[in-house]
Amino acid sequence: MAPDPAHDIEKAVALLRAGEVVGMPTETVYGLAADALRPEAAARIFAAKQRPLFDPLIVHAADRTGADACVAEWNPSAEALAAAFWPGPLTLVLPKRETIPDLVTSGLPFVAVRIPAHPVAAALLRAFGGPLAAPSANRFGRVSPTTAAAVREELGDAVPLVLDGGPCAVGLESTIVAFPEGRPVLLRAGGISVEALEKAVGPVSLEKKDKTAAAAPGQLPQHYAPRTPLRLVASPADIPAADRPGTGLLGWGALDVTGFAQVENLSATEDFTEAASRLFAALRALDGTVDGIAAILLPERDLGRAINDRLRRAAHG
Ligand code: TXA
Ligand code: MG
Repeated sequence: MAPDPAHDIEKAVALLRAGEVVGMPTETVYGLAADALRPEAAARIFAAKQRPLFDPLIVHAADRTGADACVAEWNPSAEALAAAFWPGPLTLVLPKRETIPDLVTSGLPFVAVRIPAHPVAAALLRAFGGPLAAPSANRFGRVSPTTAAAVREELGDAVPLVLDGGPCAVGLESTIVAFPEGRPVLLRAGGISVEALEKAVGPVSLEKKDKTAAAAPGQLPQHYAPRTPLRLVASPADIPAADRPGTGLLGWGALDVTGFAQVENLSATEDFTEAASRLFAALRALDGTVDGIAAILLPERDLGRAINDRLRRAAHG
């Protein structure tokens, strides 16, 4: 699908200037954007998403100058990661400037910032001329949208305009990295693998978030959840033949199976990038059309780590 015509960007800018929210395509997932410098605008995001106020928002900037306007202080590791991966699916958590409202950071002295690579997001940020706070454009706790239609399905009338930038190329939220004591710590696995981060910056700590609870709020165990119950299985053979007619299978590779109500193969060739780009659309395709979803975990490396993180949260409870 072609990027939006200029008049849609103009319409979006007018809405944002009026303190409204707008659906914004990014290369990771669709975001629900509002003026990051105005608490009353950011408040509309929380209302539209039914998102609790303790879950801070990611701030999007057009370029490094725009990011510098949000960040009070950089460190060498953050500099190296920004140089390697921006624009792109990487979010850096750094000390915030006073101009960033407390509502946006849930009262934390840190701001999560990224420069998105999607041409429509880039055009919108340039035209708006300031930072945009944007969480994923789903209702709180649910599957992130990777198409404009999925945003409308999630948020409907709560959003006056959704810019259509086509399906998201990455399909997983950004990787989030913080820097306690100046050293990189992974807060959320995402569109850039830990292996890729480490090539750019050296060792990245995977230290469990609960040790630094305040550093990674909003990372609830149940998240990314379809309405249909989802369970994790080691292999399709774990699903008895009698259960298969009501079960949708989510997996990858050579899925040589019979009897399932529906099969969603994330990548027949075991390509992590392809699997990531299809994950949320596959969950949406299964949700509500089968009685139960059985998901097979991917190998715990590369983007498999982020995909498995989403599947485990989708399965929680
Ligand atoms: O790819 C993405 O990151 C997408 C697109 C729209 O950019 N956005 C996204 O936002 O996934 P959201 O709200 O679904 O996830 C943001 C998460 C929060 O739940 C929290 O864990 C973390 O980012 N976060 C935000 N601000 C933070 C901060 N100041 N300190 C620590 N973590 C923060
Ligand atoms: Mg989200």
